[in-house]
Amino acid sequence: MSTTTHSEQETKNLAAEFARTLHGGEVIFLEGDLGSGKTTFVRGVAEALGFVEPVRSPTFTIVNRYPVTQGAIRQILHVDLYRLKDPSELTALALEEELRRPDTVVFIEWADHADGLLGSPTYAIIFSVHDLEHQIILPLLPR
Ligand SMILES: Nc1ncnc2c1ncn2[C@@H]1O[C@H](COP(=O)(O)OP(=O)(O)O)[C@@H](O)[C@H]1O
Ligand SMILES: [Mg+2]
Repeated sequence: MSTTTHSEQETKNLAAEFARTLHGGEVIFLEGDLGSGKTTFVRGVAEALGFVEPVRSPTFTIVNRYPVTQGAIRQILHVDLYRLKDPSELTALALEEELRRPDTVVFIEWADHADGLLGSPTYAIIFSVHDLEHQIILPLLPR
């Protein structure tokens, strides 16, 4: 499913719709250039699941954790590997222990910097910008 959004709010609305399909244990790769809307999308998911604090880009922290409560889901892990210099640095993050935990949903920006160490995602969402139109390609959403 390909959708075009024209504002940050529209992207967050789409993210909120996507958030309602999550059960826990999903790993989602967010692909696309800087500024294409990946972080905005995760912000929309976190807000939809009840996280009220501001969601900041994990560009420097690499991993942000947002405690939430929706069904079995207790936390969102928001990962940004843009600044990862070497895939071996992933070991220190001990992400494998949290990937696919049934109470956790993991969103990963720049997953390609992990050189395949993270395995395959449950979903990949693809972001791009053409002029002022942000295009988002999502899997068909389960209901
Ligand atoms: N339709 C839109 N969807 C998402 N972001 C948008 C949109 N229109 C404008 N923007 C702006 O584009 C930027 C997207 O940044 P961000 O979500 O941090 O991207 P990324 O994480 O992919 O680098 C933000 O400054 C946001 O306000
Ligand atoms: Mg980002």
